[in-house]
Amino acid sequence: MTDAPLFQIEDLHVSTPEIETDTGMEPGTDILRGVSLTIQAGEVHALMGPNGSGKSTLANALLGSPEYEITSGRVLFKGDDITEWDTDVRGKAGMFLAFQYPQEISGVSVLNFLRQALSARKGIEMSVLELRLSLMEWMDRLSMDASFMERYVNEGFSGGEKKRNEILQMAVLEPEMAVLDETDSGLDIDALKTVAEGVHLIREERKGLGTLAITHYQRLLDHLQPDHVHILIDGRIVASGGMKLAARLEQDGYESFK
Ligand SMILES: Nc1ncnc2c1ncn2[C@@H]1O[C@H](COP(=O)(O)OP(=O)(O)OP(=O)(O)O)[C@@H](O)[C@H]1O
Ligand SMILES: [Mg+2]
Repeated sequence: MTDAPLFQIEDLHVSTPEIETDTGMEPGTDILRGVSLTIQAGEVHALMGPNGSGKSTLANALLGSPEYEITSGRVLFKGDDITEWDTDVRGKAGMFLAFQYPQEISGVSVLNFLRQALSARKGIEMSVLELRLSLMEWMDRLSMDASFMERYVNEGFSGGEKKRNEILQMAVLEPEMAVLDETDSGLDIDALKTVAEGVHLIREERKGLGTLAITHYQRLLDHLQPDHVHILIDGRIVASGGMKLAARLEQDGYESFK
């Protein structure tokens, strides 16, 4: 199936874990209630939506987080049904997720983390020297200080530094499909630009990269210039369009889409 779209979400329903939660939501309630989306190679899609509409749930479900249960629907990557695939298998196949709240990994340096991740993704063992050179190049482009390489992943990183680190991971791991969850949150104006430029640089080198960028901010969209904008409310995509849709949202707020 060579002409299959890069990434397809078909009528996805995702529910809360079957555990007692203090969210007031019944365990097993669907958070996503029928989400469909097709992303072609090279396209950037932006997903916007109010707090709690299900954006992070979608991002996590797409990467196969065991925290969420897909109750119906399918996820296809290059024509393969990956709905049941484990997270590491998805990563190896070329999917990448930048989390809204990146985890700290104590005792593991940025360099070593990437070395392991790269060997899992590509099955190649890069020498420390080789990787160091490649990292230095990307860190320079992303305005990151080279000393970050030796620091433990995200430990003591500022919000902006964590986000830059995720973009660095994305650059080095060379995914085919990237899901970026609020890569802009906690970024100051200059850092936001750096991250957006980082995404641009990566896309320049990897023209076929598909991107789903979850964001609250018009400003990131101005930098990213997405091909499609989608609005998620209460677990459903209620509108899809181009940049005009984002402009309308900026003007009228989510109320006008309900
Ligand atoms: N593990 C979980 N257990 C219980 N409820 C959950 C869980 N994960 C998400 N939810 C609920 O599902 C809804 C959607 O959450 P989600 O994090 O996907 O929203 P979001 O659109 O990413 O919001 P934000 O813009 O604030 O990041 C919320 O009401 C949330 O409380
Ligand atoms: Mg979220």
